[in-house]
Amino acid sequence: MSAEHDRAIPDMLLNKLQCVQCRAGDMDLEADSLRCLSCGTAYPLRAGRFPDFLTEAHRSQLEGEIEFWEAHYGDTVYESENEASYQAWAELIGASPRDEVIELGCGSGPQLRRIEAKLRVGLEPVLGLLTATTGFHGLIGTVENIPVQDGAFDLVYFNYSLHHVADKERGFAEAARITRPGGRLVAVEPNLEHPQRRLTSNPKSPFRKFMPLVGFVDPNETFSSAGELRELGRRHGLTCQSLVYRESMYDRPTLRYRVQKLYSRLGRYFLPDRLIYPSFIISFKKPASPGD
Ligand SMILES: C[S@@+](CC[C@H](N)C(=O)[O-])C[C@H]1O[C@@H](n2cnc3c(N)ncnc32)[C@H](O)[C@@H]1O
Ligand SMILES: [Zn+2]
Repeated sequence: MSAEHDRAIPDMLLNKLQCVQCRAGDMDLEADSLRCLSCGTAYPLRAGRFPDFLTEAHRSQLEGEIEFWEAHYGDTVYESENEASYQAWAELIGASPRDEVIELGCGSGPQLRRIEAKLRVGLEPVLGLLTATTGFHGLIGTVENIPVQDGAFDLVYFNYSLHHVADKERGFAEAARITRPGGRLVAVEPNLEHPQRRLTSNPKSPFRKFMPLVGFVDPNETFSSAGELRELGRRHGLTCQSLVYRESMYDRPTLRYRVQKLYSRLGRYFLPDRLIYPSFIISFKKPASPGD
């Protein structure tokens, strides 16, 4: 691991941060906080290393989400897929070792830790998911107001997190804002068109309460189709470069996973990929200049 990843907030990252109150870019690292040199707001360093950019308003908006993750995974590592699964997604995410990368809603960073990059940063509102892990720089914040300057990262990605974000339009706009012109924005997401996802996406669905079928459902999540995300990208001036449907893999398959696997084995012969696979990865490019 490079020395950059051992320091709490290396200059390389400090130079990319932005105050979420006044949007100025000059921040000073003090003993136990980061201070905005423009408006004076101090952002405390939690557990001595994670600057906390959540305002009171963000915290109350995210209350249910934070409670849910703290209750299930506080101070433990949330890592649900197997090694082969994370490696396969890493290949599709396609970072280069020269890239500066940020994962939005990184949780404990099981995917981020397996990405080869010059700089790895994870934005996550839940402190308890960050404290048990290492291998990247954690920022406590929300995707709806990212504490990062415009165009700061070569690669910005969501890994099963965009569907948790209450205001997806705003979260996506923020992700596009911090992507470098000519850089990439990628999302791995549950596929709404898959039958099991469709049955369980709606918060009012009675199937959502049936754990063996649904699996692990956070009360706040709602899914999108790849077409909806492609349209979201288009509205934010991004070009869709690739779309691949596939599935995550687990070492201890649940009933849901077994049913899903059987359906995809059979369905493969007569159904299109968008109806077979429970997840997809969509990759966008941000134009190098506004006219491109
Ligand atoms: C299913 S977990 C995925 C975590 C991680 N990306 C992974 O691959 O293991 C969804 C994550 O989204 C985060 N999240 C929810 N709302 C968010 C928001 N508004 N901004 C940033 N992250 C958010 C949750 O705290 C949680 O860690
Ligand atoms: Zn400020």
